Amino acid sequence: MTKKVWGGRFKQDTDALVNRFNASIQFDQRLYPYDIQGSIAHCRMLAARGIIKEDESVRIVEALGQIQRQLEHDELSFDNDYEDIHSLIEKALIEKIGALGEKIHTGRSRNDQVALDMRLYVRDISKETTGRIREVQRALTGLAEKNLDIVMPGYTHLQRAQPVLLSHHLMAYYEMLKRDHERFEQGLGRVDVMPLGSAALAGSTFDLDREMSARELGFGRVSRNSMDAVSDRDFILEFLFNASVLMMHLSRLSEELVIWSSQEYGFIRISDAFCTGSSIMPQKKNPDLPELIRGKTGRVYGSLMGLLTTMKGLPLTYNKDMQEDKEALFDACDTVCICLEVMARLLGEITFNGERLQEAVQGGFIVATDLADYLVRKGLTFRQAHEIVGKMVLLALEQNKELHQLTLSEMKGFNRQIEEDVYQWLDPRLSPSRRKGIGGTAPDRGGEEIAKAKQELRGEGETGAASPPSL
Ligand code: ARG
Repeated sequence: MTKKVWGGRFKQDTDALVNRFNASIQFDQRLYPYDIQGSIAHCRMLAARGIIKEDESVRIVEALGQIQRQLEHDELSFDNDYEDIHSLIEKALIEKIGALGEKIHTGRSRNDQVALDMRLYVRDISKETTGRIREVQRALTGLAEKNLDIVMPGYTHLQRAQPVLLSHHLMAYYEMLKRDHERFEQGLGRVDVMPLGSAALAGSTFDLDREMSARELGFGRVSRNSMDAVSDRDFILEFLFNASVLMMHLSRLSEELVIWSSQEYGFIRISDAFCTGSSIMPQKKNPDLPELIRGKTGRVYGSLMGLLTTMKGLPLTYNKDMQEDKEALFDACDTVCICLEVMARLLGEITFNGERLQEAVQGGFIVATDLADYLVRKGLTFRQAHEIVGKMVLLALEQNKELHQLTLSEMKGFNRQIEEDVYQWLDPRLSPSRRKGIGGTAPDRGGEEIAKAKQELRGEGETGAASPPSL
């Protein structure tokens, strides 16, 4: 049985069940690089303040480096006895350099360590996430550019509504991801607070140089209230919220890929390498990947809801409940990273069926709004025009025709000002080019937006990302 870091006041050994239930070492081991980084910074600061000697600091830092290498090479066992990664590293240090190692915990608590490690982890993973979001944006832009002028139905209520460019539809997701990117960047602004020196909850009796620790660890600010610093998990919740919104966007895109690849739509083909089959139905080719991204969205939401609920009744300051933040965060990070990686690759494996898309815009009276706009140009109010086109749609429905199949005299029966030029307004291929305003689906606009996106992806010009809030 390993002696606990808190063993002094205990007469009995910890029960094996308690060790198993209480320990976080099985999952918080992934924090070891951050814990060591934090210990090194703390140790140097202690020496700078004369709380330990310079040569002691050198030996501690050297030993911490060795422990890091051992951990990298799986040379230390993660026994539940060690409770958590902070105790394990401290124990390993004491084993290596004896009583000197016991000095590392001067003026600090595991509560400070865990708050620091989680901030360092969220800082890294936020940067990784933004990088991966960019890859998906790149893939979307590439796909949009490749299919720039293909016209497809735009839907509301999943009913054909108006013709749009496929590239416009795809670039809608670019915008969503751009906001996601921004949110993670802004989150980094609030992560940028260094909690060491809280010394469990009240601050330390030692004259610690907290600003120095912050500089060593690359933080912009130090926490201003020790009680808040050790009980704050907002930055994890914020990451989970940002991850949830991101997953919601990926899930909506996935849903579209699933329905577009159905025989009913037939808009896309996903390459064989990115689909799977059925064990019983030989003909099946299933879009498992987008389905799984859609499915995994639920567990990321689950992490957010779980941690919000864990936190809501906790009195200040640290409570063991907070250990539950880890699996939630780690699982969400792993899920988001793999989903972004899969989506970026999957988009490159999609081919659009131009003919099917073309066919789809021919039906469903998709140019009805254009026809109403035409009538407004002839002097009608929009309400009058809407009413008339509604009646024309009814007539066409009765005759089992589309609007462009009505004769000019049939149309004139509704309004005498309708002329031959109306047929141009009934051609779905010409419809997008009339929507030239900023944000509209006109091909020229689309081309401009794609060029702008490519610039953003190269890191040029305005990315739209607001700079982290100054707090
Ligand atoms: N494993 C703990 C956690 O994840 C570390 C902090 C332990 N602090 C304590 N006072 N028991 O929250």
